[in-house]
Amino acid sequence: MNQDALKKQAAEAALDYVDGGVIGVGTGSTVNHFIDALAKIKGRIEGVVSSSEASTERLKRHAIPVLDLNAAGELSVYIDGADESNALLQLIKGGGGALTREKIIAAASRTFVCIADESKLVKALGAFPLPVEVVAMARSYVARELVRLGGTPIWREGYVTDNGNLILDVHHLEILEPLALEQRINNIAGVVTVGIFALRPADILILGSADGPEILKAN
Ligand code: 5RP
Repeated sequence: MNQDALKKQAAEAALDYVDGGVIGVGTGSTVNHFIDALAKIKGRIEGVVSSSEASTERLKRHAIPVLDLNAAGELSVYIDGADESNALLQLIKGGGGALTREKIIAAASRTFVCIADESKLVKALGAFPLPVEVVAMARSYVARELVRLGGTPIWREGYVTDNGNLILDVHHLEILEPLALEQRINNIAGVVTVGIFALRPADILILGSADGPEILKAN
């Protein structure tokens, strides 16, 4: 099975966690498969809070109601992909640039179900360049601070997030303590969001594999 088929397998398995109400939906190619699968059972939910303009557009094409988080209250479940996960279900996210809204929706959801192909499970986070969303005027300052932490930040030139900010992708960071590093980078002035999801990790990870979906749970 190719990687896309494994993503689709994980996405379809996530339908088991959809149980009415308003749900959160993330961003990316794995989530696109989830949205397409959700369309077939859309009558079971009240609507969706979306983490990006791209996902909103796809949801609307399927006539799935998209709601404002401020009006939705606590979400029962959030379904989203990841760029990397470790065994504690701490994640790197933001390859698709939607990390800020993703982190907000994850925080506002009772259960966070992460969907991915099996290649995303890693021993230690950091081989995937860590996305950091920054306010434009702070780009160079934040980049210097990230160099001080041992990383090599590369500006994702020409890219503007849905919130009007910029992204630095930080290469060569060894993320041995995800919780501490998330807090450290969060505290740099000008950082909007860092793509480490350790303060609020996933609760369930569904990995697409040649043997069928594998379910991992956080303790
Ligand atoms: C977007 C994300 C995505 O979940 C992540 O990049 C994984 O994407 P894909 O499902 O296309 O592999 O964090 O900001």
